[in-house]
Amino acid sequence: MAEIQFHPDLIEELHAAQHVVVLTGAGTSAESGVPTFREAQTGLWAKYNPEELATPQAFRRNPKLVWDWYTWRRELVAQAQPNPGHYALAELETLVPNLTLITQNVDSLHQRAGSHNVIELHGNISRIVCSKERRVVDTWPDTGDVPRCPHCNAPLRPDVVWFGENLPQEAIYLAYKVSGDCDLFLCVGTSALVHPAASLPVAAIQNDIMTVEVNPNTTPLTPHADFHLQGPSGQVLPALVEALKQFRNRHSG
Ligand code: OAD
Repeated sequence: MAEIQFHPDLIEELHAAQHVVVLTGAGTSAESGVPTFREAQTGLWAKYNPEELATPQAFRRNPKLVWDWYTWRRELVAQAQPNPGHYALAELETLVPNLTLITQNVDSLHQRAGSHNVIELHGNISRIVCSKERRVVDTWPDTGDVPRCPHCNAPLRPDVVWFGENLPQEAIYLAYKVSGDCDLFLCVGTSALVHPAASLPVAAIQNDIMTVEVNPNTTPLTPHADFHLQGPSGQVLPALVEALKQFRNRHSG
């Protein structure tokens, strides 16, 4: 593949940035084999109805269907490996003074790639909690039925945010705060359609913060971003990190 060229202003801003904020979505994990949600042929919501699987009402109506669907996704994610995009973001964290990675993904692939400062906006699919008291439960008997909380007997559920539910309060508070107060905002692999996550780049733009989108496709954010790096994040992000390192090599000493 031809070498990716970046605008010099972008690399200079990245070099000078004291605090970089990155928002990631499902596209970041696409190259790890984790399906996205809204893509026409391959997205999960093209095949499955979110109202039957990802709402509290759906879980009340048919807990077994919801539990089994999340078990399938949990196992898929457990087998997936971080891709070069995840590793590039983990390396970027070591190259800038402060990096906050805000993710809508529930797959832990950023943490598994070595990112430390991660805010999970939509929870984590591997964590199982009691649906009543939200107590984390580590083990449960595999009876084939929806397992129950050993303390209160309520059905267990994945610790993810379903449609109609609030995001974890502290996570979204912190995410807003850093998005409006950083030096460079990187928006990677998200359709930028689901709020409140989609409002985070808006907060950056409203505060005149350089905003960079990494996505093979266009989104509602594209016309407002300073740069649209059009391509898969598994290729664009390693090239961006490499460009930053080369810039520093040229300007060191
Ligand atoms: P979407 O499925 O809505 O969007 C995925 C985005 O990734 C699209 O814009 C694609 O163009 C882009 N994409 C695909 N392949 C890519 C690649 N290799 N590199 C970079 N980008 C790529 O996923 P999200 O925006 O994450 O919420 O969706 C947001 C939320 O909606 C999810 O967290 C989930 C979903 O319903 C909940 O489950 C609460």
